[in-house]
Amino acid sequence: MQIYGINGSPRTSWNTGTILQNVLDGFAESRDDALTEKIDLYSLSYKGCVSCFECKRLGGPSYGRCAVKDQLGPLLPNILQADALVIASPIYFSDITGMMRCFLERLLFPLFVYDKDYSSLAPKKLHTAFVYTMNVPRDRMERMQYPERLAPMESFVGRCFGHEPRKLYVCDTYQFKDYSKYKMEVFSEAEKARQREMEFPIDCRRARELGAALAADVAGEP
Ligand SMILES: Cc1cc2nc3c(=O)[nH]c(=O)nc-3n(C[C@H](O)[C@H](O)[C@H](O)COP(=O)(O)O)c2cc1C
Repeated sequence: MQIYGINGSPRTSWNTGTILQNVLDGFAESRDDALTEKIDLYSLSYKGCVSCFECKRLGGPSYGRCAVKDQLGPLLPNILQADALVIASPIYFSDITGMMRCFLERLLFPLFVYDKDYSSLAPKKLHTAFVYTMNVPRDRMERMQYPERLAPMESFVGRCFGHEPRKLYVCDTYQFKDYSKYKMEVFSEAEKARQREMEFPIDCRRARELGAALAADVAGEP
């Protein structure tokens, strides 16, 4: 039973990377046969979809597959053979990071068929989860309608892989180690430090539970 964790943060082991690792650990703890792999997108050299349409060329050698040759290309078919996929991103300007968006363009666009149902060429159903980390507290996240803004990409992923994605929002993250060194008037360091000490461990526990839930989803497949 295999799960891929895609890290869309440039900081590989900070908020997003830590939460993602907890999801993968939760998955691994639930099953003896679990295989986990984390991919740090910022360590790869790649672009988003370049609109070559080779993935839609009838009878072409790349029909249904991304034809772009770069460091991401060889990873895409492996990800599609997994049982579960975690898409983890910090929020940048109310959205996933550009690197994560580029990754999802390359993963998803070749799979969508331009037929009347926009059917999917995904080789198998995948259980997925979106994990977001962000600076704003939860009440502001809701006021700013982040969940609604993030929903269209979640919906594409759900349609493509046949299961509605699970979601985890990690709010009010600690952005750097020493707030006194940075211009930062709107957030209180004391409050952020409290959040990091008291709330972040709870977020990590929720992430582990999410990993276990994904493992149960996969185990429940016929
Ligand atoms: C370029 C940039 C844009 C950001 N935009 C937002 C934003 O719109 N909303 C928000 O809540 N946090 C925003 N943040 C904060 C990050 O989402 C937050 O600190 C996140 O937890 C960082 O993840 P990391 O620790 O894995 O790098 C932004 C950070 C950066 C660097």
